[in-house]
Amino acid sequence: MIKIAPSILSADFANLERDVKKISTADYVHVDVMDGAFVPNMSIGIPVVQSLRKCTDMFLDVHLMIEKPVRYVEQFAKAGADLLSIHLEADHPTRIAEALRIMDECKVKKAVALRPITSPNAILPYIEQLDLVLVMTVEPGFGGQAFMHDQLDTIRQVRALINKYNPACELEVDGGIAPATAPLVIEAGANVLVAGSAVYGAPDIPAAIRTLRGNP
Ligand code: DX5
Ligand code: ZN
Repeated sequence: MIKIAPSILSADFANLERDVKKISTADYVHVDVMDGAFVPNMSIGIPVVQSLRKCTDMFLDVHLMIEKPVRYVEQFAKAGADLLSIHLEADHPTRIAEALRIMDECKVKKAVALRPITSPNAILPYIEQLDLVLVMTVEPGFGGQAFMHDQLDTIRQVRALINKYNPACELEVDGGIAPATAPLVIEAGANVLVAGSAVYGAPDIPAAIRTLRGNP
């Protein structure tokens, strides 16, 4: 089944509770955390995850676009995240492994995220313990960018690795997902689709979610 994870980066931060209710037919709430260092933009952090946890039972899929995520994974887990994605480019492999170990201790689901430049094979040291792999289909940092078609091949390669080493692992894609690109990423093997502008910019949000899933 295809899951939809609307990104609240495109929501109204002054009305987050209202905007999370608008996506109640989706599967995950995608929360984009940016530190102004790993990516050239800043967004939201731990207190916002805490507040979201109080106002929704939906699955909180927290995408950490931050340097050295090992410093913060425990706090995000305790704030109420259900899943944390850490970027493989954000620290040395030993500290990526340490961050995943802390996530295990905190009983939060574990994901690694790949910038477009990163080889699919970079997931190999971790694949067997992951709940999800996140493939970026834009350069992380901003909503509303154009989908990078080159990344379809990365999605296919990651799907092949997942099928070989850990078939239960989910494959999420993030960036430029819209009605025109959703069928392409699904065909390439993605099963969780993040969408910011295509959901929050739509006149009928439940209809937009159904369309992205492939059953309008
Ligand atoms: C980009 C973020 C995305 C972003 C997607 O760095 O990780 O989650 O919100 O936005 P759209 O769907 O508008 O490309
Ligand atoms: Zn994201």
